[in-house]
Amino acid sequence: MSQRKKRPWFVNASRVRLSQVNKKFAAGTKKGMVVLDAGAGRGPYRKLFKHAQYEAADFAQLSTGYTQLDYVCTLDDIPVEDQRFDRILFNQVLEHIDDPPKVLAELFRVTKPGGKILCTVPLFFQEHQPPYDYFRYTKYALVKLFEEAGYSNVKIGWLEGYFGTISYQFHLMSRWLPADPREVVQGWRLIYMAPLLVGTRALAGFLRGAFSRAELRWKYTKHGMPKNYVVRADRPQA
Ligand SMILES: C[S@@+](CC[C@H](N)C(=O)[O-])C[C@H]1O[C@@H](n2cnc3c(N)ncnc32)[C@H](O)[C@@H]1O
Repeated sequence: MSQRKKRPWFVNASRVRLSQVNKKFAAGTKKGMVVLDAGAGRGPYRKLFKHAQYEAADFAQLSTGYTQLDYVCTLDDIPVEDQRFDRILFNQVLEHIDDPPKVLAELFRVTKPGGKILCTVPLFFQEHQPPYDYFRYTKYALVKLFEEAGYSNVKIGWLEGYFGTISYQFHLMSRWLPADPREVVQGWRLIYMAPLLVGTRALAGFLRGAFSRAELRWKYTKHGMPKNYVVRADRPQA
């Protein structure tokens, strides 16, 4: 009898989508190409680039673990020659950069003519990795930043559909709405606020899972907003 693995009720749909876009980028990376993972962190995509020459750069200032780093540096000053890399991965890092034009100019410098960059970046996400969290980006800002750095063929897409964003909003509600309504009000107003807060919190816990599963089945992009954008761009040949 075949054993089907049971999927948990809540799936982090963004992680699944991140893995999908990075797998596709890896599939378009030829054997032996030189790849920079800029702001590599734990290096979750290293294994996708076994066929290439994968190199990791990060400033390694956080207490989280890091993959083996080839360059411990800030991304505005990467200690390599011009045009070293065929491919640049830049996942979930741009929001942590205090001087984005400077870093994009540096990434452009180290990209080979004809080389490609993949960037994923949040539009709607809580503050994280303090104090290194500076910006959230609209698609208009992203096009401007990448074009001004010199990249061409800049394409912006939604990482998740709107169901993924909704799942995340419910996830935050299930964590942050007060479990004890007396933190907010006292007395007779509890009659109204207790069911509102406790009920919404419980329902949100269920709905975050339902929408995360819906996201993986249907990527709905007609209305709403993504949690993250994906940027694909090229360094022109000449
Ligand atoms: C949210 S993590 C993303 C890590 C990895 N790219 C991923 O997708 O899992 C952001 C990473 O950017 C790094 N970082 C932030 N600011 C940086 C800077 N100015 N120069 C180099 N690395 C930086 C952090 O150390 C952290 O590893």
